[in-house]
Amino acid sequence: MVKGFKVYTPGGPEVLKYEELDVGEPGEGQVKIRIKAVGLNFIDVYFRKGAYGAKMPYVPGFESAGEVIAIGPGVTDAKVGDKVGCMGAFGAYAEEQIVPARALVPIPESVDFIKAGAILLKGMTAQMLLRKTFKVGPEHTILVHAAAGGVGSLLCQWARSLGAQVIGCVSNEEKARQATEDGCHHVIIYSKEDFGKRVMAITNNSGVHVVYDSVGRDTFQGSLDCLATRGYMISYGQSSGAPDPFTMSILAPKSLFLTRPSIQYTTNRDELLEMANDLFHNVEAGVLKVRVNQTYPLSDAAKAHDDIENRRTTGSTVLIP
Ligand SMILES: NC(=O)c1ccc[n+]([C@@H]2O[C@H](COP(=O)([O-])OP(=O)(O)OC[C@H]3O[C@@H](n4cnc5c(N)ncnc54)[C@H](OP(=O)(O)O)[C@@H]3O)[C@@H](O)[C@H]2O)c1
Repeated sequence: MVKGFKVYTPGGPEVLKYEELDVGEPGEGQVKIRIKAVGLNFIDVYFRKGAYGAKMPYVPGFESAGEVIAIGPGVTDAKVGDKVGCMGAFGAYAEEQIVPARALVPIPESVDFIKAGAILLKGMTAQMLLRKTFKVGPEHTILVHAAAGGVGSLLCQWARSLGAQVIGCVSNEEKARQATEDGCHHVIIYSKEDFGKRVMAITNNSGVHVVYDSVGRDTFQGSLDCLATRGYMISYGQSSGAPDPFTMSILAPKSLFLTRPSIQYTTNRDELLEMANDLFHNVEAGVLKVRVNQTYPLSDAAKAHDDIENRRTTGSTVLIP
């Protein structure tokens, strides 16, 4: 038996129950890992609240880094002792986790477990958003909402290194300082000024080529409004709730593109490894600074949830079993 969390019913952070878990042994195509670091993600909150359907009870958590301690039948490309990361499989809020071997990503020697747990899911998301959903380059001006958050911090650093003009949007001065350090050319504190108006002023009324919108309901319309003609609205999250229903014709006046990407980009193993290589290459090259701004013992996951939901976190948060 190992320690970990289960959620039996949707609700607030109090529904996270820390208890003894029997994770079992790996089946066909699976491995067991001993988890050294768990990445906290806003998606953990959506599932806990019941906003995304999860079959109850479940062990939460989608981002882990650890060591392979057992392999199941048919596994050929992992062995006991491998240093690995895993994203996208439930069960990370525990001391041990059973995961499909095909979901594992090798972690380079130079990246420690805590950094790996902090960056895998968020960094792969940034890779997807900047290199696949839209290929950002020096000719682009982009707007990043929640620019001091886990994904946002990486988006700003990476987009800057790709030569883009980066505008970040945050709620307060402290977050603005971090976003500036992370490469934003302009930072908008949306609690003090209208972000749409400021974007239009910065871009001489042209608007931005791309908006990376993880906030959802509160920013959706404003994001569309500050896009350039034929701009890309990349709505990849909903920290403030799902955007209100809308008619497609709102995209017509500026011929806008709208996409709602998810980490489905990595269902193919070759693509998963290619994206992970790109991510870790950029970490090792110093392009991406991994901001592990908060760590908590795993047993304090409820406190960590309360903090991320109430905008008290910046960068990445790691839970340590
Ligand atoms: N599509 C995908 O595959 C994918 C993958 C990973 C993450 N995501 C999404 O990316 C977003 C960021 O995830 P993250 O884990 O890095 O979280 P995060 O950005 O570190 O935390 C959320 C941030 O959103 C901002 N925010 C604005 N309105 C909010 C509200 N009403 N309640 C709470 N926060 C609000 C806050 O920043 P300010 O204080 O600056 O407003 C807050 O710090 C989430 O929406 C997540 O679901 C999507």
